[in-house]
Parts: sequence; structure tokens; C-alpha cells
Amino acid sequence: MPVSATPPAPKHFLQFSDFSREEFDHLIARTRWIKDRFKRYELYQPLRDRTLAMVFEKASTRTRVSFEAGMNQLGGIAINLNRGDTQLSRGEPIEDVARVISRMVDVVMIRTFEQSIIERFAMHSRVPVINGLTNEYHPCQILADVYTYVEHRGSIRGKTVAWIGDANNMCYTWLQAAAVLGFKVHVSSPAAYAVDPGRAGATAPGHWAAFADPAAACRGADLVTTDVWTSMGFESENDARKRDFANWMVDAPMMALAKPDALFMHCLPVHRGEEVAADVIDGPQSVVWDEAENRLHAQKALLEYLVCGHVSP
Ligand code: CP
Ligand code: NVA
Repeated sequence: MPVSATPPAPKHFLQFSDFSREEFDHLIARTRWIKDRFKRYELYQPLRDRTLAMVFEKASTRTRVSFEAGMNQLGGIAINLNRGDTQLSRGEPIEDVARVISRMVDVVMIRTFEQSIIERFAMHSRVPVINGLTNEYHPCQILADVYTYVEHRGSIRGKTVAWIGDANNMCYTWLQAAAVLGFKVHVSSPAAYAVDPGRAGATAPGHWAAFADPAAACRGADLVTTDVWTSMGFESENDARKRDFANWMVDAPMMALAKPDALFMHCLPVHRGEEVAADVIDGPQSVVWDEAENRLHAQKALLEYLVCGHVSP
């Protein structure tokens, strides 16, 4: 391509609603295929000579390992950039960082604070950008969670997910997923931390309902899920949150109100004895280790889709 030519606009995964139901059907089918091959130790390397740049402005275990291992398994390489090691920490504008990095690599993953930061990056990127978590959304995690549900129970369409706790990045991404994939979310949060209907209404009309009582939100649910009371970036509120969320711990009596075959999920890391009782997260309904492993397989399908397009088996 001549140096002056403007490349076509790339496809990004900045929030769950960036993709259609058909695209998620494709990703779920590809995740299953890629996972099966991986379990049989069969090489699958469509991303040979391709490079992923990962920019982390917040801590990570699962996202870092799953993207780096996944990119290597697909035949490519991953470059890890922590904010403090880059010129971002010395004030280089995110737009300039995007222009530069995206001329050197094939795909970028960013974990940062406000969604507006990743949107500004994407606007100036020549290559696909993946949201590895922002204050507002965590779409890669919900992609893996939906896959995990499908793997254990079949289609999530028409099912009920109970979200217990903070109306945080995970919660709002579940609301988007409900609207795209056709299921319902029962949300129960302390009043001061509740879903903002203005923000959710635009993404999930008719796909969620608020419950003051967490037990009521769990009644009849197919999946019960929660997350830490204090997300990264909100640490100064930790003491107040511990008091305010004390009645929002998912425990065995709450799980007993859900359907008998209900699953329990948590994106991890977890604080046992805060947002979930140890006997629930370590109990028979919990699929949290499959959920964590599936970050690897689902993101490999996502990388394949963004870099290679719609690949058929
Ligand atoms: N669930 C999740 O994103 O974990 P990490 O913060 O460890 O990446
Ligand atoms: N809501 C949590 C998720 C961590 C994976 C956070 O943003 O810290």
C-alpha cells in the first residue's frame, strides 16, 4: 500500500454491543473449535508473523496471561506495555501513542480507566483495538462468561442472569450482552450503587430489572454472578463499600432460590467472605475455573476474527 494511502477503518471490540448476535454465534462456534484443537495438542497458527500490543494501565493476571499465551499459541507474538514503562506516563497523548503503535503491530489490547481513553485510541488506530477492561465495560470477560454458560447449559437466549452487587463494568457489560443475545438480567445493588437507568436504558431496554432485595433477584435465575465490591480505581471508597455492601454477599441460601441447576460465576479475583461465601465459589455450582480458562479460548477466537476475518472451520 502506498505510504499516503488511508487504510480501511478497522473493526474494534470496545464494548459488547459493538458486535451483533450473528458475530457472537460465530465467535462461540470458533471458541469451541479452537478449544477442542488446543485440548488435542494440535497446532493452529493463523497469526504467524502477527503482533499484538498490550497496554496495561491497571493490574491484571488473567487478561495478561490469556492474551499473551493465546497470541503465542496462534503463532504470533505479544508485546506487554505497562503504563509506567511507556511515554504515556510522561504525558504522551493517547492519540499519538495509537498512531505509532498501530503502524507497527496488527492488533492492540488496552486495559485502562475511562472508556473515552480507549475510544480516543481506537479513533486514531489503523488496526483493531480490544477493550481489556475499562471503568465502564469488560467485554472480553463477558464473551468468555457467555461461552462458559453455553458450554455447560446450551443457549443463553431467554435465560435469567442474577447480578448481585456493584453496578460496575461487569454489570453494564452483562446488560449489553442481554440486549444483544436476548436474555434477562436481574440486578440487585445497594441503592447508592444502583444501575443508572439512563445509561443502561440506552443499551438494554426490557432486558433488565432492578431488585432491592438480592434474594429476590436470585429467585428462578439460571446463573448467579457477582464481582468485587471495590473495582480497580475506586480503592479510596473501600471502607464505605464494605459497610454498604454487607448484605450483598452471594451465599448458599441465595443460591438455593435460583434454579436447581443454576451456575455461579465470578470474573476473579475474588474476596471470599465479601461478595461471595467460600462454600458457593468453591462449591458444586461454581464454574469459575472454566470461566477463567475460557478467557484464553474465547480471546483466541476474537483475535482470529479481528485479524483474519470470518474464518470457516
Ligand atoms: N477477570 C480479569 O479480568 O482478571 P484480571 O484482572 O486478572 O485480568
Ligand atoms: N470490576 C473489577 C473487575 C476486575 C477483573 C474491576 O474493574 O476491578
